[in-house]
Amino acid sequence: MGEAKKLFIKTYGCQMNVYDSERMAEALGGAGYVATDRADDADMILLNTCHIREKAAEKVYSELGRLKPLKAERPDLKIGVTGCVAQAEGEEIMRRQPLVDLVVGPQSYHRLPQMEARVAEGHKALDTDFPEEDKFETLQKRPRAARGPSAFLTVQEGCDKFCAFCVVPYTRGAEVSRPAARILSEARDLVSRGVREVTLLGQNVNAYHGAAPEGEGPWSLADLARGLAAIEGLERIRYTTSHPNDMADDLIQAHADCDKLMPYLHLPVQSGSDRILKAMNRKHTARQYLDLIARIRARRPDIMLSGDFIVGFPGETDEDFEQTLALIEAVNYGQAYSFKYSPRPGTPAAERAGHVDDAVATERLRRLQALLERQQKAVQQAMVGREVGVLFEKPGRMPGQIVGKSDYLHAVHVPGPQDLIGQVRRVRIVESTSNSLAGELI
Ligand code: SAH
Ligand code: SF4
Ligand code: F3S
Repeated sequence: MGEAKKLFIKTYGCQMNVYDSERMAEALGGAGYVATDRADDADMILLNTCHIREKAAEKVYSELGRLKPLKAERPDLKIGVTGCVAQAEGEEIMRRQPLVDLVVGPQSYHRLPQMEARVAEGHKALDTDFPEEDKFETLQKRPRAARGPSAFLTVQEGCDKFCAFCVVPYTRGAEVSRPAARILSEARDLVSRGVREVTLLGQNVNAYHGAAPEGEGPWSLADLARGLAAIEGLERIRYTTSHPNDMADDLIQAHADCDKLMPYLHLPVQSGSDRILKAMNRKHTARQYLDLIARIRARRPDIMLSGDFIVGFPGETDEDFEQTLALIEAVNYGQAYSFKYSPRPGTPAAERAGHVDDAVATERLRRLQALLERQQKAVQQAMVGREVGVLFEKPGRMPGQIVGKSDYLHAVHVPGPQDLIGQVRRVRIVESTSNSLAGELI
């Protein structure tokens, strides 16, 4: 056998893409590739892309432009585009940028090795199908290498919600839940390789309803969390992203009595105005969201809340925007993401009237982010003096320091020995700095 070929993957977008990039690297590992973290010495470069906002999608074309000299220098270099831009734009990518050899959408990654073989023979390869077969089944085989203490695990993919602004139902396809038995076995394998925390991923992860291990079922996300909690050595379970309308009672209850389920919930609401929520097709009101938060907090008072917000959705008035600020005030978020509305081709909202002036949207985003930042800081500051669990992940920047994530997902650094990496320890928080917390081992 010749020398191993080198694979460089650049990942954009959400955590699901991070998970997919790992799976693709493994799938191509079987075709003789080893991962490299340098584009300039790779034999194949894959851009695993995101289509959620215009800026995200345009990044791909500028990155491809930057690869041009590299390809000119080394014509054998293979360049591929994967992910949601690949799904949304397909062949158009090769038209706009002829240096691209391979385009593959998220539901066809299990076909990558065959596609690579075609590309190696000098052909172009394109696959943006939504095939019947389960990509995860063939993508499942991971090499038995050790890995870091925290891992992503995709349990559900696709979305049937069709929010008026969103491309995900088109790029990821219909909502599909993986069978629980496969998830449990993947989790056991991860634990055997050093993983202590899994974050279950899905575009609507709390809508999970996969086949139960014993054939009865389906299992809900709460059932899955309890099933995973029974795995010895797995210490923490997280999940993201959830939709308010799928926040079932058994899941709320699991936050009260399943110790391994971490007290953190990413529950996007997008807007605090009922008029805008309706136009967005979110199918709930601001009041229903606030009532839900109250029910969750009644059972898990310390739960950390996180959200996503869009400003400048078509038709959003100053009053609608004030209602969003009021909702944020009422919830008190520990963490949040916020965006200016970006019209996406093919989505219902892209065709609508009521365009919000860019300067207005920019100013709204600034005010919203200032409020969220104040909340975030205050929530972080309130951790000082408290005792929390921390899963240590790596050495810190200072000598003799280790860093990890608290139960509430804050970065925490403490003075401590390296051999605690991979373990959960109790820590007393002593200081809140700009991006992290400082603590002491108890
Ligand atoms: N499935 C998740 C996340 C979807 S994408 C959910 O339902 O919440 C992540 C976030 O990107 C969304 O929550 C939304 O806030 C933002 N987003 C999606 N489409 C957008 C668009 N066209 N313009 C601006 N932000 C958008
Ligand atoms: Fe997009 Fe809405 Fe589905 Fe989330 S729930 S992925 S925002 S369509
Ligand atoms: Fe982006 Fe696709 Fe994720 S559009 S946010 S990479 S599902």
